Parts: sequence; structure tokens; C-alpha cells
Amino acid sequence: MTTSIETFNLTKRYPSQSKESRSALDNYDLHVEAGQLYGIVGPDGAGKTTLLRILSTVLTPTSGSAQIDGFDVIKQSEQVRSRIGYMPQAFSLYPDLSVLENLRFFADMNGVSREKQKKRIAELLEFARLTEFASRRSENLSGGMSKKLALACAMIHEPEILLLDEPTTGVDPVSRRELWQLLAKVIERGVTIVVSTPYMDEAERCDVVSIIYQGKSLISGSPVDMEQQMPFKIIEVKARPRGTLRQVADSIDGVIQWRAVGDRLRLSVNNSMAVQEYLKDALKKAGAEITILREARITMEDVFIYLVESQEHPV
Ligand SMILES: Nc1ncnc2c1ncn2[C@@H]1O[C@H](COP(=O)(O)OP(=O)(O)OP(=O)(O)O)[C@@H](O)[C@H]1O
Ligand SMILES: [Mg+2]
Repeated sequence: MTTSIETFNLTKRYPSQSKESRSALDNYDLHVEAGQLYGIVGPDGAGKTTLLRILSTVLTPTSGSAQIDGFDVIKQSEQVRSRIGYMPQAFSLYPDLSVLENLRFFADMNGVSREKQKKRIAELLEFARLTEFASRRSENLSGGMSKKLALACAMIHEPEILLLDEPTTGVDPVSRRELWQLLAKVIERGVTIVVSTPYMDEAERCDVVSIIYQGKSLISGSPVDMEQQMPFKIIEVKARPRGTLRQVADSIDGVIQWRAVGDRLRLSVNNSMAVQEYLKDALKKAGAEITILREARITMEDVFIYLVESQEHPV
């Protein structure tokens, strides 16, 4: 595998950031192989946009370095730009241009020749399932359709690498799924994708993920490996009355932390069997009715919460 994107100690402090505030990006290392679907996953303000803006050459880092296909993002920005397609978080389509006109505009801007444009635009309209909406003004598109058009615009010059900043934020779950299906199709063609998202469940769709928090990478690797490496298990429990369940969860030994998800609690524990036994006994004694009590699969959300807690309250 060849390396596609690499950063070393990448750091960004915005001039307007106060002395006390953390760097937006803090010695961040990234290593993306060609052909990977790589997720940058983290909450609001984690540094995702800062990272993607540096990679796409629109922002200069304070220190450290970043390379794309071996080209330095600062010293060789021309070469970098010709290889990437960048979809900014606040992507600006031209509201009074139609879908087709937006695509033509981005094609012209990216130097796609007029002969090539026709075929390429038809392909992308088909790809994004926007063919029948080609003449609709982009201001009249739904959120999901706008994102698909923005993705198509970022791909107009057939870049080898796509940098997508939160392409699924603010769109409905069905459109989110559709967007991920489109990304899977792009990956099949051998394109490398770096995609940021605040949604932990989306991390599971990526080959490799870096969890970013306060400008730092807390962990990187494949979601399955990460889940298996975690030094805890998850117990899922549902019982009534809920107040009693919470009291019991607070009081028994062996629970690292718990959180409510829907009508259940998810407990992080070291010893799953023992805690399940304690729970069963304690809930019965307290007169609660148990409907679910079992070990559950560790999700990326559990991984994230555990890592953030360990960061903030190191043992
Ligand atoms: N132009 C700026 N000037 C000063 N601080 C900034 C600037 N842009 C971002 N920051 C700060 O840098 C940190 C990282 O911001 P960034 O936009 O990269 O995060 P993000 O992960 O993209 O967040 P979101 O999910 O909200 O888009 C935040 O604390 C933010 O307030
Ligand atoms: Mg952002």
C-alpha cells in the first residue's frame, strides 16, 4: 500500500485564539493509505475543519508538516490542489444557479475542458441521482440533495483524493445512508477519502478512524480493532422502575461508568459476568422487574466516552 496522506506534529493556533485556549490542532499525526476510507471523528470544536483546511491548502499550519501523495501542502500546494477534491463544511453552492450550472461552474473553475465536461457532468448527475433535477435551482434542493451536489462538484475534476468536511451533518437519516452509499461507490473506484463526522455511528462505516478531541488524536485504527482493544465490557440493562435501576447502577461494585441510551442503561464494566450477577441480585432485592440484562457489543460511542473520560480523569 502506498501512503496517500501524512501529517507530522501538525499544529494550528489561530492568531485570534487566547493564550489560555488549547491549540485548534495539537501535534496531530495522521497516516492514510491510498484507497482507504478514513474517518476523522470528533465532537464540535475538536479540530476537524482545521485539519481538513490545512490538508486542502487553504490554511497554513503554525508548525509541523502535511503531505499529500508526497507533496508538501505549503511548498507544493499547486501539485496538492490538482490531486484533491475538497468539500468544505459550509459548502457554498450558488443558490440561483441550477444543479447543472453549478456543476459547469465548478468544472470551469477546476480546468475541466469543455469536451470532457459533458460526459463528466452526465456521469456525476447519474452517480448522485440528480439527473432529473438538473434544471432545479440549487436553493430549492433538499439538504441531502445539496450535499450530494456539493460532493459531485468536489469530484468534477476526477481527483484521486477527496477531503470531505462533515458531508452528512444536518441531513435526514435516509439521506445520510445514501451519502455513505455514494462514498462506498467512490472507494470502489480506488479514490482515497478522508471524511470528518461528529457522528460516532458513522465511524463504523470507515476502514480506519482517528478519534479527534481538543485538537489531539485520542486513538486511530480500524473500528473493529478499537472495539476489541478496549479494556472494558458493556452490559445493557433494562428494568423497572427506572429510578431503582439508576440507584442500583450507582451503588454496585465493578461499574466504571454508565449512561442511559433510550430506555436502557449501558454500563462499562471490567468483569461482565460478576457484574451481571450483582445486578440481578440487587435489582431483585430492590423489587425491580428486569426485562433485559446482557452483554452488548462495544460501539464507537462507548469507545469515545471511555477515552474522553480517561483523558479527563486519568487513573
Ligand atoms: N478562525 C478561528 N479563530 C479562532 N479560533 C478558531 C477559528 N476557527 C476555529 N477555531 C477554534 O479552533 C477549535 C477547532 O475548531 P474546528 O472548526 O477545527 O473544529 P471542528 O471539529 O471542525 O468543529 P465542528 O464540528 O463544530 O465543525 C475550536 O475550539 C474553534 O473554536
Ligand atoms: Mg468543522
